[in-house]
Amino acid sequence: MKKRLGLILMMILALVLSACGSNAQTGQESESNRGGSGEKGKLDVFSWWTGAGEEDGLKALLALFKEKYPDIPIENAAVAGGAGTNAKAVLASRMQGNDPPATFQVHGGSELNDSWVAADKMEPLNDLYEQEGWNDKFPKELIELVSKDGNMYSVPVNIHRANVLWYNKKVFDENGIAVPTTFDEFFEAADALKKKGITPLALGDKEPWAATHLLETVLLGELGADDYKKLWTGELAFDDPKVEKAAETFKKMLTYVNEDHSSRNWQDASQLVGNGEAAMNVMGDWAKGYFTNDLKLAVNEDFGYAPTPGTEGTFGVITDTFGLPKGLSNSGDVKKFLGVLGSVEGQDAFNPLKGSIPARIDADVSKYDQYGKDTMEDFKSATLVPSLAHGSAAPEGFVTKVHQAVNIFVTQGDVEQFLSTLQSAGTELK
Ligand code: GAL
Repeated sequence: MKKRLGLILMMILALVLSACGSNAQTGQESESNRGGSGEKGKLDVFSWWTGAGEEDGLKALLALFKEKYPDIPIENAAVAGGAGTNAKAVLASRMQGNDPPATFQVHGGSELNDSWVAADKMEPLNDLYEQEGWNDKFPKELIELVSKDGNMYSVPVNIHRANVLWYNKKVFDENGIAVPTTFDEFFEAADALKKKGITPLALGDKEPWAATHLLETVLLGELGADDYKKLWTGELAFDDPKVEKAAETFKKMLTYVNEDHSSRNWQDASQLVGNGEAAMNVMGDWAKGYFTNDLKLAVNEDFGYAPTPGTEGTFGVITDTFGLPKGLSNSGDVKKFLGVLGSVEGQDAFNPLKGSIPARIDADVSKYDQYGKDTMEDFKSATLVPSLAHGSAAPEGFVTKVHQAVNIFVTQGDVEQFLSTLQSAGTELK
């Protein structure tokens, strides 16, 4: 039921986004865009970071802002639901109703540029970048993700990695399981675990994006970085035999997941790994925040991490960014918030708790645990690829269709139908 609600909200979002897009084309919204909570002077920070594993970093950032600007009231306006399942639809209706939050969470890449920027809803932040000296403090790949036509439209607070395989160390050690690096090794390990009565792979796709997240790591592992990227530019067809092989692998992986996957969210699935009921899960590194902050587990003692099968040397990039909607009267205050968010101090308050690494290249490495340190090193040397499930690789309308197709595939397992649905959805990609 909740899952259906999630899908419905995503469809509403896609509709509202396309409405915003057509407004931009006709140039109708500039006058009516005035207004929003910012006009009332409220500094409401909109995100989906509520609850376990999500909110600690945000709270630390808001506390830092309060310390620096005690006279500017700030409000946490987060809407629950992993990966923005509900928040994105709420945001879309607020933007459409000319009631934008003062600033909001948006993934760098397509989610920012092909929707809000294309719809002319965002202020360029070039002056802020200049003022704060950020142009050489964020990696150029991140600056590209938040830029369109030479203007910067948001400020990255972090870099999350998508392609991480988390595993319970005790379960692996006690059962003599080696960390799998290929799909063959993964299935070998999964068979051994299954024989012992342990769920090999935890999944929580009550919110369908979690299954899309797993799929994208399988696509990356089977296709490699170049072909993976070609999928989102329309250069590689979804009915290509290589994609078919990936779909078969994905289907096989789904035979090793917990039976109740469709009633769990990502935290519930990670919990199975944390308490040893399941051996592994594939999730972005916000799972690390959940393991350490909420389950009080220790990195490399209770749980370990590795690139998902076949993805060593590649890094699925997710960057959470915040921008400035057009038409706010308190844009100066919003810029102050963005200034804190983009500062070394802000990033180092947020990221060690969130599980992500700082977006800045000059953050204080000593503030991060071994996972963070390893991930910072990997980011420097790996081939970077954009995440599909988290909005960087392709427009929201397409991502919504993929979530729907994946959702059906998880229950029905019809590879041919799945690929043909993706293929027809893919016609809208450049
Ligand atoms: C992602 C987001 C992460 C994390 C995750 C789970 O889309 O980038 O910061 O919040 O969803 O909700």
